[in-house]
Parts: sequence; C-alpha cells; structure tokens
Amino acid sequence: MNMTHEHYLQAMNIDVWKLRNFSEKPSSDWQDLQTKAMGCTACGLHKTRTQVVFGVGNINADLMIIGEAPGFHEDQQGQPFVGRAGQLLNAMLNTIGFARESVYIANILKCRPPENRDPMPEEVAQCTGFLEKQIALVQPKLLLAVGRIAAHFLLNSQSSLHQLRGKIHEYRNTPLIITYHPAYLLRNPADKGKAFQDLQLTYRTLHS
Ligand code: URA
Repeated sequence: MNMTHEHYLQAMNIDVWKLRNFSEKPSSDWQDLQTKAMGCTACGLHKTRTQVVFGVGNINADLMIIGEAPGFHEDQQGQPFVGRAGQLLNAMLNTIGFARESVYIANILKCRPPENRDPMPEEVAQCTGFLEKQIALVQPKLLLAVGRIAAHFLLNSQSSLHQLRGKIHEYRNTPLIITYHPAYLLRNPADKGKAFQDLQLTYRTLHS
C-alpha cells in the first residue's frame, strides 16, 4: 500500500477529515486576490505597515477563524496570530481537535494599525472586500469570529460581545459563532470558561 500522509494518519487513528484537501494548490482566483491584497494602498495603513498579513492555513478548511488586525509580531512575520494571543488561539483550537494548520485564519484588516489602535470605520470599509472574497473562496462550514471588531463587521451589529457569544448566527448562509478575542482572554482569564463553552458549541456544530 502506498502510505500517503493521510493513510498514515488514519493508521494512527488520527482524524483525517479536518485535513480535507489540505495540500490542494490555491486557485487562480485565490492567487489573484492575494496579489491584489499584497499591493494594496487603499488606506493610510499601507504607509506604516511592514507587510500585508493576508491570512494563513488550509484554504479548504471547514473552520475559518476571523480576528481583528495584525499586531506587532504579525506585521513583522507576515502571518496572523503569531504573538501571545496567537499562542492562546492555537491552544483554544487544540481543545476541539484542530491543529492551527488545518483551519484558515484571517483578519478584518490586513495591515497593522499603528500602536495597535482599533481599526477605523473607513479602514474596515476599504479592507473587508478581501475578507469577503476569502470567505467566499474557502467556503468554510463554520466561521468563528474572535472579538468585537470581527463580530460587529460580520453581523453588522453593535451589540456587546457578551450578548453575541454563545449562540449560532449566520453570515451569508454560513453558520457563525462569536467568542472572546484571545488577547482579551489573556487580560481576563476568568472568561476562559465561557470561551471554552463557545468552542464546544463550535465543535458540536461542525460535527452535527
Ligand atoms: N490579533 C488579531 O486580531 N489578529 C492577529 O493577527 C493578531 C492579533
């Protein structure tokens, strides 16, 4: 038998459904979108960024994570969620059986706001066309938005995160779950239990 990566994982009793089409090449639509984002100068953030942080992971993922914007480390390394918040996000994903590489991770903004300030409405308006197309191309089974900025954009709502978390919403016919941002959880560890409930809801929704 030809022992492919997938066969090997099956033989080891490791779930392989999460790695669906893991190694597929990006489509030309995806490559075009990435090229456009990498050269984007639509808002002032292009003047202060080190690099565009387009997104990372499995472009055929069942689960897509939406964060806020790159921070210092992400701007330096060109990948979302690589700092302390990223380590916690990875651990959160692991609790429901996902390796970071098996999901797709993107942000509302592709460029770092100076001093990590909140994204400005006009920056969100200029940038989110990229994210909308990423979601349409990945076609995840479920979106998990972390934090208020992602939740407010995807739901077109201004409700508090507390009100939005813990239930299943929809974004353009795709189920959407909202939970706390890992950076918030680092500052407010008492809410980690609620985040874990949201992750369990994520797991149940994907497996139903
Ligand atoms: N916070 C985010 O929302 N996104 C990142 O990529 C890093 C930190």
